[in-house]
Amino acid sequence: MVLAMSIQQQSFLRDTMRRLNLTREAFSSRIGVSRRALDTWLLPAESQEFRRMPEIVERFVSEILASAAHTSTQSVYSTSDLSITHEGKPCLLSVDQFSRGSAEALFRLADVMQPIARRQKISRVLEGAVLGNLFFEASTRTRVSFGAAFCRLGGSVCDTTGFTFSSMAKGESIYDTSRVLSGYVDALVVRHPDQGSVAEFARATNIPVLNAGDGPGEHPSQALLDLYTIQREFSRLGKIVDGAHIAIVGDLKYGRTVHSLSKLLALYSGIKFTLIAPAELEMPAHIIERIAVNGNVVEQTSDLVNGLRGADVVYATRIQKERFANETIEGYTPEFQINQALVNSVCGPDTLIMHPLPRDSRPGANDLGTDLLHDPRLAIFRQTDNGIPVRMALFASLLGVADQVPHSLRDASWKAPRFIGPDDALFHGMDG
Ligand code: NCD
Repeated sequence: MVLAMSIQQQSFLRDTMRRLNLTREAFSSRIGVSRRALDTWLLPAESQEFRRMPEIVERFVSEILASAAHTSTQSVYSTSDLSITHEGKPCLLSVDQFSRGSAEALFRLADVMQPIARRQKISRVLEGAVLGNLFFEASTRTRVSFGAAFCRLGGSVCDTTGFTFSSMAKGESIYDTSRVLSGYVDALVVRHPDQGSVAEFARATNIPVLNAGDGPGEHPSQALLDLYTIQREFSRLGKIVDGAHIAIVGDLKYGRTVHSLSKLLALYSGIKFTLIAPAELEMPAHIIERIAVNGNVVEQTSDLVNGLRGADVVYATRIQKERFANETIEGYTPEFQINQALVNSVCGPDTLIMHPLPRDSRPGANDLGTDLLHDPRLAIFRQTDNGIPVRMALFASLLGVADQVPHSLRDASWKAPRFIGPDDALFHGMDG
């Protein structure tokens, strides 16, 4: 009972702050309560400090929201504003399909999914639906989290992995594969090494197709969970996305996650992008052009140490060697390691360290260092946890069951883990 109440209260307050674009500090003064009181209303039910928000405050906040909805068409959204389509069909191919409003409507739905993702509640709104999970490239988290998200809404999943064991090895076309699969399943998640290939799958069918990475093209679901993570962490830290300093590091030429994420972030205003890459792996010019809008500033450098200074978010990436044509990365190794010593010397106490993962943890690798594992600034596992509610929200929207979710929630009858990972208990407590 207390749990359901706290979840509702948290989602309501979080969503209000997001819709009004206010930090916790600004929101508490807007509604005339102390920041400390607001913090206790946002805590999880397990916390000794959790308090129920007085009904009068709830009514006042609802009124503020209602009047904001009247005066602004830009900052207040409901789930019904969320329609993820491409050429009239329900599909997720690119972040270009999102406005700031629809991204935030998706996050609102992801908040509703949190208790399911945390195994506090179960829902069966996708009972009877089958997902085809087609991965023609290596994957662990994207494949499993899409599958788990579908299962957690009551659906079932059929997986295929690699070309070798698919009929594409016998010369079958994307058109035929997609057409055949749509007779078997109700949605397709596709990862493929060629840019544009997932759109080709989508053209051959009327069932929802979701792009789980098309070569160096895009990775929209990853970017959405990254932005959702930034918003949740910023809410805890009292920051908002507008005006943030985001440093993106590594292989910006072939890294599809950062292509999608930077375009999504460019829906906000006053962002300072610092793009840090060796000369041969710089961000493509067409993306720089797209993100240098809304009063955003884009700086490019190969100087890691100076590039990271003052960043609110450091987003590291893996070198995509498997996509190299003629590039070399000589001289890259020592300079581009983001490790504890570097973070301590140039990052602030509130800097978030993110990475889409996988990171190369082998000795001598030039990726995000493993010595940061116990640093609270490292948000990588909170980021992966957020993949589940965001992907659930995508499925619920694409398959038209979003409105049914709140009424479908039941208690789980099995013993669910209280915290997901050994090191994140503090944060699950802190971020409410
Ligand atoms: C990324 C990908 O596949 O693009 N991983 C992921 O899906 N989280 C990043 C990478 O492979 O480096």
